[in-house]
Amino acid sequence: SFQPRVFSGVQPTGNLHLGNYLGAIANFVPLQDEMPAIYCVVDLHAITAKHDADGLAGVTREVTAAYLAAGIDPAKAIIFNQSQVKEHAELAWIFNCVARMGWLNRMTQFKEKAGKNRENASVGLFAYPTLMAADILAYRATHVPVGDDQKQHLELTRDVAQKFNNDFAERIVELGLGVDNPNPNPELPDQLYFPLTEPIIAGPATRIMSLRDGTKKMSKSDPSDLSRINLKDTAEDIAKKIRKAKTDPEPLPSEMEGLKDRPEAENLVGIFAALSGLSREQVLADFAGQPFSVFKPALADLAVEKLAPITGEMNRLVADPGHIDAVLRDGAERAAAIAEPVLKDVRRICGF
Ligand code: ADP
Ligand code: NA
Repeated sequence: SFQPRVFSGVQPTGNLHLGNYLGAIANFVPLQDEMPAIYCVVDLHAITAKHDADGLAGVTREVTAAYLAAGIDPAKAIIFNQSQVKEHAELAWIFNCVARMGWLNRMTQFKEKAGKNRENASVGLFAYPTLMAADILAYRATHVPVGDDQKQHLELTRDVAQKFNNDFAERIVELGLGVDNPNPNPELPDQLYFPLTEPIIAGPATRIMSLRDGTKKMSKSDPSDLSRINLKDTAEDIAKKIRKAKTDPEPLPSEMEGLKDRPEAENLVGIFAALSGLSREQVLADFAGQPFSVFKPALADLAVEKLAPITGEMNRLVADPGHIDAVLRDGAERAAAIAEPVLKDVRRICGF
């Protein structure tokens, strides 16, 4: 069966925030000790919406610095940027011809990002999920740690893998390129080329919400800077944003049941849990009956304690772009060494 391998990515689109950290990057770190891991800065995805070409290299270095500062070790994991390994774009084209319009039409992220102006969205924004499938499957990755918002894209990745495996089932066997299906099922052949990748959506903070509106996810693209805690924020910024975070007038309840229909309160408790390593139940046990005027300063202190060392290390790393570029170059070589033979197989399977 397939060799276990982790792949994940973050876009270089500026304003890395607490959601990116708790929902994704922090979960990348322990996985590098469990299986071979590849962490990508997905700069091809960053041009699906209006992008600043002058700033792109700098933001790519910033995300790389965040990976390193969070504890991803380039001696263990591969760290690189997507545009340097051409196999991503090539496999994405092939997957555009495997995926169906109807599948992509159902993607909620496209609907959110394109908004009312669908006719003017780039074709790349529409095809974003097939590029994401290519990112993952160019390494035949078996596991992808992501935030909850990426669940639907991971399902599409599995659909693409499944259709490719089915459409080319006979050639995969004839060419001797098949791997025994680890989970035999009547809808799939016994021999597969691509694994059906599993998402890892882990921890108490798989979906961090905006600090200004508990029904919207915290996002890089939210026009209000008060809506998110950026990894580059100072201690004063963090304290101010938490102080100003929207809440309701009730004190904290003693049990999870009491957070029902209180999205802002639930979000802040979730953030406290994720940063402290406590469960949400434990956090509520500690703060039961306390008003937000007590809880918010405690949360601000905790956020500063956990984030300040990462911010400091990011700033130190960004000041030495030569080092970051060397990490990315080395990572791109190691990534290409895995993706090139996969694309060689895929070309033969497709008949090129
Ligand atoms: P964004 O959604 O902020 O533009 P990306 O698309 O680059 O960021 O996502 C990078 C990773 O961060 C993905 O795994 C995504 O699921 C995760 N992520 C993004 N926003 C949040 C959030 N608010 N809560 C939890 N995880 C998030
Ligand atoms: Na996202």
